[in-house]
Amino acid sequence: MYAQMVKSTGEGVKSPEDMTAEERAFQERIDAGEKIEPKDWMPAGYRKTLIRQIGQHAHSEIVGQLPEGNWITRAPTLERKAILLAKVQDEAGHGLYLYCAAETLGVSRDELTEDLLSGKMKYSSIFNYPTLTWADMGAVGWLVDGAAIMNQVPLQRTSFGPYARAMVRICKEESFHQRQGYDIMMKMANGTPAQKRMAQDALNRFWYPSLMMFGPSDQDSVHSAQSMAWKIKMNTNDELRQKFVDQTVPQAEYLGLTVPDETLAWNDDKGGYDFAEPDWSEFFDVIKGNGPCNVERLAARNKAWDDGKWVRDGLLAHAEKRAAAKVAAE
Ligand code: 3HC
Repeated sequence: MYAQMVKSTGEGVKSPEDMTAEERAFQERIDAGEKIEPKDWMPAGYRKTLIRQIGQHAHSEIVGQLPEGNWITRAPTLERKAILLAKVQDEAGHGLYLYCAAETLGVSRDELTEDLLSGKMKYSSIFNYPTLTWADMGAVGWLVDGAAIMNQVPLQRTSFGPYARAMVRICKEESFHQRQGYDIMMKMANGTPAQKRMAQDALNRFWYPSLMMFGPSDQDSVHSAQSMAWKIKMNTNDELRQKFVDQTVPQAEYLGLTVPDETLAWNDDKGGYDFAEPDWSEFFDVIKGNGPCNVERLAARNKAWDDGKWVRDGLLAHAEKRAAAKVAAE
């Protein structure tokens, strides 16, 4: 499997001949579908890319709360407020599971948080776009959580045990997130003409940024070859993007909305849609920090970290006092 990677990408992935005995034994475990647990031997590169991917995944969950949190106090009904509140709370829990999975690799949550706050680590580009209307809550649930599900379901089979197990719980909750978003879109698309226009506007603004969530096109993906050889990633970026488009276009048609891509057309030969790629220069600009909301999002996370310092200090002081009392009692 990874030998083909070497042929296809010609870079990054070591061929068996170039591996040490330990690396070969490790790769055989991966190829046999075994789960790697925190205490198992693993190549330094495996650990490093897991910390990167799981850490950035966790950051995405936490920063992802901000665009939706913006609408909790402005939800149109008490029921919608309760649903959105539950969803945003779920995302905090997803971040928690993922930080815990990352901690098993020897990195602390504080280190990961500091790397987020300094801009050293990324979070998903999608959260650097503004949520301007209530219909955006529908588009985020339907498209962003829909894309997240497409990307996360295969990760339930990823080789690193704690990550795969965290994904099982997260994917169950994501389904609720996606359905509540699509329900909002159905209500708006079947509402007044003004509401339908609002839903179409939300689709127009979130379509391409949602396609970007799957990462750059395969030829520009830095990590895919090695991550797939190690089953940290189960599909390529383009494979999942295609699956997302094929699943989402009929949903847009059911809503009576138009996907903002004039080139979109069903291709019988490939059994999927041909579609226009996102503007990759915009994507790389956004992940460099120049998106519409990057500064606002990082400022909000930095403020939350600073405002919460007294709580962390209090908990630490309490824990140290209890530890000292325990030692004194022995
Ligand atoms: N946003 C920000 N950065 C991105 C990105 C995106 N959408 N897509 C790719 N990148 C970055 C990568 O992190 C990498 O930069 P780095 O080396 O500094 O980390 C660079 O672009 C090259 O991309 P690659 O394709 O080589 O990187 P990966 O192999 O890591 O693929 C990925 C990117 C598909 C996002 C992969 O990391 C992945 O599957 N991660 C796990 C799932 C995840 O993080 N999903 C994010 C959404 S979670 C979410 O939306 C919450 C939900 O509740 C709404």
